[in-house]
Amino acid sequence: MNKQIISLNKICKRFPLEIGGVQQVLFDVSFDVNVGEFVTIMGPSGSGKSTCMNIIGALDSATSGKYELYGRDITTMTNDELAVVRNEYIGFVFQNFNLLSKRNILDNVMLPLMYRGMPKHDRIRRSREMLNLVGLEKFETYLPTQLSGGMKQRVAIARALSGNPKLILADEPTGALDSTMGNEILRFFKKLNKEMGITIVMITHEFEIAKYTNRIIHIYDGRIVYDGPVPKNENVLLKSEKRHKR
Ligand SMILES: Nc1ncnc2c1ncn2[C@@H]1O[C@H](COP(=O)(O)OP(=O)(O)OP(=O)(O)O)[C@@H](O)[C@H]1O
Ligand SMILES: [Mg+2]
Repeated sequence: MNKQIISLNKICKRFPLEIGGVQQVLFDVSFDVNVGEFVTIMGPSGSGKSTCMNIIGALDSATSGKYELYGRDITTMTNDELAVVRNEYIGFVFQNFNLLSKRNILDNVMLPLMYRGMPKHDRIRRSREMLNLVGLEKFETYLPTQLSGGMKQRVAIARALSGNPKLILADEPTGALDSTMGNEILRFFKKLNKEMGITIVMITHEFEIAKYTNRIIHIYDGRIVYDGPVPKNENVLLKSEKRHKR
């Protein structure tokens, strides 16, 4: 088995500006993530975290640099190939859950499986298993609007898991939740990571949430200023920003 899931090498990202010119958002971002890691990406608002995550998730491409997912060069793939990679390897979890509001919970969880051409009865069985895993098996006929924020995020996690991904990418999964629900979601992620060996890369603003993970990559102004184990307190990360400012 390939030990490295993600390998970013000197990734740069520039966005064209409407008024002309370009804005560079990522500067030579390089890091690897190995199978089984649980990694947090932190950094101030606008520092480039989501941009980096979108590149990792093959939702956007880098302007320069090399990105390999499972040893396969993502930079040279066509859009169709990228769609297959996303669907087969990656489960996405977003801050605002991204559930289809007019479809019930079971339909929402089944959705990624439809793109795989899985027969309907298998889709239903698999999705029920996943709802069971997140403790929502009694709610399959509910609409997302009838659930709490924490429950909606659990549905989104069940959906992400339904395709049996090796990697979960979560962009501020607790951003819309109170701290009790946020902690509950993180305990669940921890369990998926430990017991099922799923590799997780998560963005958060909250150090308390990052403490559940094994490694922090701190981005500041589009550059990595810290990459290591979760420090005892957040000051270590803030100091790494200051070192960069000098
Ligand atoms: N599609 C785009 N076109 C132009 N600029 C963009 C685009 N996406 C992001 N940016 C710019 O890139 C910078 C970084 O944005 P990004 O969303 O990655 O930040 P972030 O660290 O995720 O912030 P937050 O914590 O607020 O979510 C911002 O200045 C943003 O305006
Ligand atoms: Mg963001």
